[in-house]
Amino acid sequence: MPDTRHEPIRVGIGTPLNRVDGEAKVTGQAQYAAEYPAAGLLHGVIVSGRIARGRITGIDETAARSVPGVVEVLTHRNRPHTPWLDRNYKDELSIPGDPFRPLESEEIQFSGQPVALVLAETFEAARFAASLIDVSYEAAPHNIDFEASLAEKFLPSKKRNSYHEPKNHGDADAAFDKAELRHEARYHLAVEHHNPMEMHATTVDWHGDGTLTVYDKNQGSQGVQSYLCNIFGFSKKELRVVNAYVGGAFGSGLRPQYQVYLAVMAAKHMQRSVRVVMTRQQMFTHAHRPEAVYTVKLGAEPTGKLTAILGDATTSTSRFEDNMEDVVIWGMINYDSPNMKGEYSIAPRDTYTSADMRAPGAATGMTIFEIAMDELAYKAGVDPLEFRMINYSDIDAMYRTPFTSKALREAYREGAAAFGWDRRSPEPRSMREGRELIGWGMATGLWNAEFVETSARARLTADGRLEVASATSDIGTGTYTVLALVAADTLGLRPERITVRIGDSDLPHSQVEGGSRAAASAGAAVQLACQAVGAKLLAAAAKVEGKPLGDARSLEDVTLTDGYMILRSDPSKAVSFADAMAASGLDVIEEEATAKPGLGDRISQMTKSRNVHSAVFAEVRVDEDLGQVRVTRIVNAVAAGRIINPKTARSQILGGVVMGMGMALHEETMGDPILGRWMNHNLAEYHIPVNADVHDIEVIFVDEPDPEVTPLGAKGVGEIGIISTAAAIANAIFHATGQRHRNLPITIDRLIAT
Ligand code: MOS
Repeated sequence: MPDTRHEPIRVGIGTPLNRVDGEAKVTGQAQYAAEYPAAGLLHGVIVSGRIARGRITGIDETAARSVPGVVEVLTHRNRPHTPWLDRNYKDELSIPGDPFRPLESEEIQFSGQPVALVLAETFEAARFAASLIDVSYEAAPHNIDFEASLAEKFLPSKKRNSYHEPKNHGDADAAFDKAELRHEARYHLAVEHHNPMEMHATTVDWHGDGTLTVYDKNQGSQGVQSYLCNIFGFSKKELRVVNAYVGGAFGSGLRPQYQVYLAVMAAKHMQRSVRVVMTRQQMFTHAHRPEAVYTVKLGAEPTGKLTAILGDATTSTSRFEDNMEDVVIWGMINYDSPNMKGEYSIAPRDTYTSADMRAPGAATGMTIFEIAMDELAYKAGVDPLEFRMINYSDIDAMYRTPFTSKALREAYREGAAAFGWDRRSPEPRSMREGRELIGWGMATGLWNAEFVETSARARLTADGRLEVASATSDIGTGTYTVLALVAADTLGLRPERITVRIGDSDLPHSQVEGGSRAAASAGAAVQLACQAVGAKLLAAAAKVEGKPLGDARSLEDVTLTDGYMILRSDPSKAVSFADAMAASGLDVIEEEATAKPGLGDRISQMTKSRNVHSAVFAEVRVDEDLGQVRVTRIVNAVAAGRIINPKTARSQILGGVVMGMGMALHEETMGDPILGRWMNHNLAEYHIPVNADVHDIEVIFVDEPDPEVTPLGAKGVGEIGIISTAAAIANAIFHATGQRHRNLPITIDRLIAT
C-alpha cells in the first residue's frame, strides 16, 4: 500500500514547485554552451568589421599568424566552400530576404559584421591575434538613422507566416473626422538589444569519426541542427545540437546566430573541436528589437465610447531581410469600435536584421496603444480604468471571433483592488510626498496563447523512476520544472523521481521555443506520453496475482499516487508500479506521443481567438529636479488560463515586468549615424534595470478555466509580463507630472527637458 506516513502526495499541475534544475544551476553543474570540455579544443575569436556598408579591400593577417598558438585565420578569401543557393541558409524562422552568410564575400552589410575568425590553441592567443588583424575597407554610403530610413519604407510582402495582417472595419477615417472627441499622436520606441546573461556561444565537439556535437546557445536545437546540416552537408545522424541550459535569450536565440555558423565551419575545416563565444559588444551586432514609430488616432463619443481606431506603424529592418511584427493589431483586437484601420510598413537600414524580442510586436504596439488610450481617457475626463471598461470587447474586435476565454474584467478588478486604484486622485500632479510627485497609471496587456505540435517520450523503469524527454528548450523560463510537474501530475510520482531531458536534437521533435508556447505544447506532449505509460502499467497490473484492480481498464478507474495504482471504487485495492511491471516481466515501459491540434482544434483555431490578457497598475515617484523616476509599485494581474506552476509562472511575470521597466525608463541602443554603428554597446552604457531599480511587484493570476485553448488549459506566460508594463509606467509619469512622453524610454534627460 502507499506509504501513508507521508502527506498524500498530490504534487502536480498547480503546485508551486521550486525549479528542479535550481540545484544544478547554483552548484555549477548545469553546463552552458561555452562550458563543455572537448579534447583538442581550438578557440575561435571573431573579428568584427568596422564600417556599416561597403567592401573589404584587404586583410593583413601576417602579425596575427605569427602569434604563437595561432593555427588558422579564416576570412572570405580562404573559407571552406559552402552552397550558393539561399535556400540552404534558411532557418526555422527565416523571413523574406537573403539570410546573412558569415565570411561569404568582401561585401559589408552592417557594422560589426564578422570579417575574420582567428583560431588558436588558447583563447588568449586567439584574442590577441584577432586584435592584430588589419582590415582595409572601401566604404559606401550608409544609413542607420531610422527617421531618415522612413523615406524608403515599404509595405512588406506577407510571406511571413507568423505575421497577421490588420483587418479593417467600417470607414475609420470618416469616423475619426467626425468624432467629437479625438486623439492623434505619433509615438516612438528606441532600439533595444536582448542582452541575456549568457552571451551567444558554441562549443563544437569534433569526435573524429565524422560526427560532431554542437553545444550551442539557442532556443531550438532541432532548427539549428537542420540549418547547420543544410549548409555544411552533415546528416542529422552526424550532427547533434545540444542546448540543455540557456542563460536567457528573449528571442535572440530564435534564429541561429553567426557564432554557431563560424564554429561549425571552423571545426569542419580544421577537423578539430572549436569554441566561439561572442563578446558582450558583439551581442550588439545582431538581433535587436526594431525601432518603431506608431501614429495612433482615436475617435470617440463624448462618453468615451470609441468610434474609430486608426494605427499606422513602421518598424526597422535590415537591407537584406524583411523583419515584420504584429504592431498595429492589438488595440484593434482588444477594444470595441465599429471603425478600425491598421497600416504597417517596414523601413530598411544598414544594420543587421531586427528580430523578435520578448513579445515582438505587442511589447511595442500594445504598449504604445495603451499610452494613446490613456491620453484619450484624460481628454474624455474618464478614469483610465473606467475608460477601458467602456470600450471592453467580449469578442476579438478585429477578427470578430469569440475568445476561448478572456478574463480581463477579472484581471482589471483584482489588479485594481490589490493596487488600491479607487484611492487615486484623478488630477495630474495631485499626489505628492515631500519633494516627490506620485503617479498612478494603468494599462492593458494582450498576447497570443500558442500551441504547436510537439513530441515527448516517457520512460518508466522498474525502480520507479521516470524520465521524460523532448527536444524543447528551457530558455530560463522553467520548462524543466513545468514538465516535471505535468509528469508528476499524470503518473502520481514525486518530482524527485522524475528526470526531465530536454534541449537536445536527438530527443523527440519540438519546434523552437518562442512565443510563450513551450509549457502548453511540450506539457501536452509529456502528458500524452505519460498517459500512454499509465495505460501500459494498468494493463500490466492485470497480470498481478489475484487481480487486485479487478477489471479496471481505464486510467479513470484508478488513482495514481506515489508509485501505486489505487482502485477508485475500492481504495483498499492497490498495485504498485513495481509489482505490475514485475508481473508482466517488464523492466521498462517507454512510450512516445505527439500533441498536436486535432481537427476540432484546427476548426476552433479558425473560429476562435486564443489570447492571454493582463491588467498592469504602476506607481511612480518622480523627483522633478533630478528627473529621477522610481517605480515603487507594480501590480500585474494576468489571465492566462490554467497556471501549471504558480512559482515559475510568477517569476516569468516578474522578469517581464522588470524588462518593461527597462523599456519605460532605461533601454535604448543609440546609433552613431556617421560611423553607422551602435554606440552604447556594453552594459555600462546600455542600461537595464538593476536590483536598486526594482521595488514592489505583485503578480496575480486570475481564475480562468479554459479547457479549449490548449490540451492542458494553459496559456503561456513568458511574454505577457512585459506587455504594456511600460505603458502603465509612462501613464503613471503623466499622472505624477503632467508630462506626456511619447518617446520611450523616458530617460532623465527627456524628463528634465520637458
Ligand atoms: Mo520569443 S521573442 O518568441 O523568444
